[in-house]
Amino acid sequence: MERNILYSKDVEHPQFGSDVQRLIENLGQLPEPVAEPAFIVVSGLPGTGKSYFCRQLAERLPVIILESDALRKGLFLSPTYSSPESSRLFRACHLLIERLLKQGISLIFDATNLSEGHREHLYSIADRLDVRLVLVRVEAPPEVVYDRLKTRQENSESKSDADWAVYRRMKPSVQNIRRNHYVVDTSRDITPVLDKIIREVRR
Ligand SMILES: Nc1ncnc2c1ncn2[C@@H]1O[C@H](COP(=O)(O)OP(=O)(O)OP(=O)(O)O)[C@@H](O)[C@H]1O
Ligand SMILES: [Mg+2]
Repeated sequence: MERNILYSKDVEHPQFGSDVQRLIENLGQLPEPVAEPAFIVVSGLPGTGKSYFCRQLAERLPVIILESDALRKGLFLSPTYSSPESSRLFRACHLLIERLLKQGISLIFDATNLSEGHREHLYSIADRLDVRLVLVRVEAPPEVVYDRLKTRQENSESKSDADWAVYRRMKPSVQNIRRNHYVVDTSRDITPVLDKIIREVRR
């Protein structure tokens, strides 16, 4: 498959190899390897509550969270969010994800992952490695997101720099997820979806 060829070329490219190395150095504690690692992917606009949801999941499952905003800051001291920067970041993220899953490390990929084109890379990794892929569309009503982003900016405990302007700019890029997925509205109780995912991963 053409995509596989692209991946193997990337692995050989020295720049991507050193990017992945830098990401690995900043990862911190990894969970114990398992025979069938889980690959959980969230998708949603800024402020919909992806990182919050991932943290709740990670409290109940032995997984590492790969948060694209944090990884970006590990690679680029002053991120510009330009498309070449994002391409390089996500190329490194995909290689890192593949490497961790191959080692049996369960992980959650916390990024907006809005377009099917971007998610195709993730589908391809899961299919190639035959790992269980759990997809979650995270959403919240716009008025809730607006208030959250305003509060988040004031407190700035988050790794994300996205504000309401970024939310509005990204909104047209949202594409339906073509594969089976969970949907969670984070303005309501998120526990039922957390419980379902935990049950699926432990099965
Ligand atoms: N279920 C929830 N209950 C209460 N507060 C929440 C919930 N989900 C998110 N929040 C709060 O809303 C704000 C935005 O959430 P979060 O940072 O998780 O969004 P995000 O989708 O990760 O955004 P970004 O794409 O910019 O990283 C945070 O301050 C977070 O604490
Ligand atoms: Mg986030």
